[in-house]
Amino acid sequence: MRWVSGLFCAFGLSVADAFLPAQPHITTHHVQHHASRRLAVVRAATGSGDKKTLERVLIRQGDESDLSKIRLVLASQLMNPLFLQAERFVCAEMDGRLIGFGQVRPLDGGGGSFEVASLFVDEAERGKGIGSAIVRRLLERHGAKGTLYLLTLSKTTPFWERFGFRLVGSDEDASLPALLRLERSAGTLVAGGLLGQTVVVMTKDE
Ligand SMILES: CC(C)(COP(=O)(O)OP(=O)(O)OC[C@H]1O[C@@H](n2cnc3c(N)ncnc32)[C@H](O)[C@@H]1OP(=O)(O)O)[C@@H](O)C(=O)NCCC(=O)NCCS
Repeated sequence: MRWVSGLFCAFGLSVADAFLPAQPHITTHHVQHHASRRLAVVRAATGSGDKKTLERVLIRQGDESDLSKIRLVLASQLMNPLFLQAERFVCAEMDGRLIGFGQVRPLDGGGGSFEVASLFVDEAERGKGIGSAIVRRLLERHGAKGTLYLLTLSKTTPFWERFGFRLVGSDEDASLPALLRLERSAGTLVAGGLLGQTVVVMTKDE
């Protein structure tokens, strides 16, 4: 079943935006509840010109109470909502609302390969640096535990290059985790057929 996740992660930017009319409502969530899991507080700039204001965004570790909302959002974005483990997530919270999240999960059960996946920011809050803050925190937390991979649409590679990810070359293909190759094949089938997009694998050198 895990192959579905990569396929749907790659789809997050396109199928969902193209075919899904609205984001699900993300319910209120109390910051105090997560005080002990607080990882960082970033400030996100919103608005433009003189109207630009700063809002507090709490970047914290996920917990069990996030999972029902995360599942709902992932399903609506055609990302895999199954087999989620709260502790793998980093979440973004603004004014008590869960507004974004992402995770790093193992690809090969202890073999040293991991996938950055399930990255999502509420549509209304995009472009404020929140997705980047989540990714930065995921990378900090992951440290040097093992090789990181991700699947994405080719048009999204500039976003990931900012964090040191690079496209995997064809000469490296054979060394990719089998599960990742499977996820890419499934994603390519759908993305290529429906969207005319290519699904690519990126990795971050340690
Ligand atoms: C991808 C996503 C998480 C980015 O979140 P965000 O909070 O808007 O990210 P940031 O504000 O940190 O964006 C940083 C930069 O990346 C750029 N960027 C975001 N998505 C991009 C894309 N698809 N292609 C190229 N650049 C992109 C932004 O324009 C921004 O550029 P800027 O700093 O020059 O303005 C968000 O667009 C999202 O939830 N998309 C739907 C789900 C999805 O596709 N997830 C990724 C699956 S691999």
